[in-house]
Amino acid sequence: MKLIAGPSSPLLTKKIAEKTGFEIAETVYRRFPDGELYVMVRGDDDSYAVVNSLKSNEDIVYLMLIFDALEGKSITAVIPYMGYARQDRAFLKGEAVSIRAVAKLIEEYADRVITVNIHSERARGHFRKLTELDAMKVIGQHYRGRDIVMLSPDKGSLSRVKRAAEIAECEFDYLDKRRIDAENVEMVPKNLDIEGKEIAIVDDIISTGGTVITAAAQLSGKAKKIEAACVHGVFAGNALNRLFLSGISQVKSTDTIETQVSVLSISEIISEVLLDEV
Ligand code: R5P
Repeated sequence: MKLIAGPSSPLLTKKIAEKTGFEIAETVYRRFPDGELYVMVRGDDDSYAVVNSLKSNEDIVYLMLIFDALEGKSITAVIPYMGYARQDRAFLKGEAVSIRAVAKLIEEYADRVITVNIHSERARGHFRKLTELDAMKVIGQHYRGRDIVMLSPDKGSLSRVKRAAEIAECEFDYLDKRRIDAENVEMVPKNLDIEGKEIAIVDDIISTGGTVITAAAQLSGKAKKIEAACVHGVFAGNALNRLFLSGISQVKSTDTIETQVSVLSISEIISEVLLDEV
């Protein structure tokens, strides 16, 4: 098997190559003056794993062109961050179910699809050949041995945070929204006293940063230190700046999306699955 480093996941692919021993195929990615994209894959092999997160619209076009360049080969699509998964149904009549369209496109070419913590059960249901990996394990391993309390921003995400906390062997809880009066709502840990404790707010995605910033604002003054960790660091617009200015001491994500804070790597869990395949 050879690896293809898609334009959105070069560092992750390099780490997977180091762990698996698979070579990275030589590729050419270019943009024509009119904005159209161009892909060439050099060399020849029977089987390829294409690693490319779908963070931008361009990533989807690149993925499609890579698949076409591999016409007739066996393809495993490794899509660490599956964009468009939040539009997993038609909320209004007439809306496109975006993830259904993306799933159809990928599965038209790929023999197998691997992703990490897809947005929802419903999004997962639009795929037929999907293996979903859980990066909560990676976050849990990172915090192992630290005297920290993990907090989920809401009850709905508690089971995810519990999986990370069990590996980290730390306490965990979720933030409970309580109405104080007509105008004010407070978010407090449901069961634990976090006075003087170090906190990690753990979520699957940080997009605008709004969820984590609101949670951190409620905890500041009580907690000793607040960090935020997530699987997918989307960081829309100036979210990272807003997070840094909000009093959160550190922001960490995995490298499903490569950014300046993607310091936790999913390369190990992807490599395990790819090695199982050959
Ligand atoms: C919600 O379902 C997710 O788990 C995240 O809490 C949410 O997507 C985060 O979005 P934002 O950073 O824009 O608040």
